[in-house]
Amino acid sequence: METNNEEKGKCPFGKDVQVPKVDFTNPEFIQNPFPVYAYMRERSPIKKVSFGNGQAFWMVTKYEDAIQIFRNPIFVKDIRKVTPQEGKESAMNSSMLFSHHLLNMDPPEHTKMKRLIQKAFTPKLVEKMRPQIQKMANDLIDVKVATANSMDIISEYALPLPISIISELLGIPSKDKELFRRWANIILNIDSNVSAEERMALIPSAIQGFTEYLHQILDERRKQPKEDLITALLQAQEEDENLNEQELLSTIFLLFAAGYETSVNLIGNGILLLIENPSQLDKLRQNPTLIHSAIEEMLRKDPPVLLASERYPIEDTEINGTLIPKGELVLICIGSANHDECKFMEPDKFDIERKDNKHLSFGSGIHFCTGASLGKVEAEIAICTLLERFPHFSLAENTVLKFKMNSIMRGLEKLPIVFTTADHSVLEV
Ligand code: HEM
Repeated sequence: METNNEEKGKCPFGKDVQVPKVDFTNPEFIQNPFPVYAYMRERSPIKKVSFGNGQAFWMVTKYEDAIQIFRNPIFVKDIRKVTPQEGKESAMNSSMLFSHHLLNMDPPEHTKMKRLIQKAFTPKLVEKMRPQIQKMANDLIDVKVATANSMDIISEYALPLPISIISELLGIPSKDKELFRRWANIILNIDSNVSAEERMALIPSAIQGFTEYLHQILDERRKQPKEDLITALLQAQEEDENLNEQELLSTIFLLFAAGYETSVNLIGNGILLLIENPSQLDKLRQNPTLIHSAIEEMLRKDPPVLLASERYPIEDTEINGTLIPKGELVLICIGSANHDECKFMEPDKFDIERKDNKHLSFGSGIHFCTGASLGKVEAEIAICTLLERFPHFSLAENTVLKFKMNSIMRGLEKLPIVFTTADHSVLEV
């Protein structure tokens, strides 16, 4: 965002301080976007900004405006509803092959599909996963206990856990989960180590690999049903003739894609918040029953998803005094809404006992996250297990923390910690 020069001097950060800018290509902004959000909430709560690639969108930064848009059916998800007739085909290009899913649907298709997924993705199923998540967390830590007094929380703990769980839930054999992750990363553009050119070159083979693999697994499950989500979706499909193969593929893709990077970020960002706030870490150690409100506070304070998915008004719409023209892209900034001082007392404070913590980290309205309870259970178990096994830990020496250069998600590249004793001496292996 280029902010007008005349706004200089009125900046809440001091008269001569440069007005902060939204710049998704600027590592400083990515590391800590919250002061920029605060400025926007105060000065231009709904503002047209641009991604590094030039794509413009309306960024919504205040809590009440966010809620209004999340719940307003004028803001649709299916881009074809706001695309002129002649552009409809290209609006569905190849990278949208897996886009026939919930996040790009409006009622009545969305209602039907969500019911179907919820039928398969039940709270009972999530509860059934608890012992498995616990075992996996124990195993990952056991490996460390035996071999080292340090660990990269992201690659050695936060990442393997949700990937294994979502693969297990879907019924993807464990030997293939890395392959699945690589394809999803390319298609969804969430690997900051891959350049835009590399990604463009890799997309066709990722789409082909993914499609062939899924067709094969669907065939196998049709012949031999198992107790997994893919089988449950197939059964639901058979009961509902309107669900086509493309929707089925897209849904499996969405569940996998939405089900791991988000949870990895919650675990990583959450553990970092505890390290940065030793009094809160201490409180949680003394009273582990605070884990539920601690997870909610982690979700609020440093949300895994900063920008909600695309929405488009089907007519010119005024929100809080700003006119958003028909068909223009609108993104709700969850990261900012969660820090809105009109909604949360001392929003920048990390308080694991915060009351009335109605953050927007899982969205709101009809697109509210299907996997919210699974994501929370994963983080709860991961963090409690780490604290039980290693009550004391600190950042490894000389660590420079870096958040991934990603405009949508907020997650650390690495989080190296060392296990210590209560008096901060490094544990002997
Ligand atoms: C901490 C973890 C997670 C966070 C922070 C998160 C965040 C979100 C957000 C913000 C949305 C709404 C987007 C919008 O309205 O634009 C969403 C939707 C969704 N999430 Fe999650 N998610 C998490 C975990 C999961 C998991 C584990 C799964 C599944 C395995 C999942 C599946 C979905 C699905 C299917 C939707 C689309 C719902 C709809 O359109 O009706 N999420 N998630």
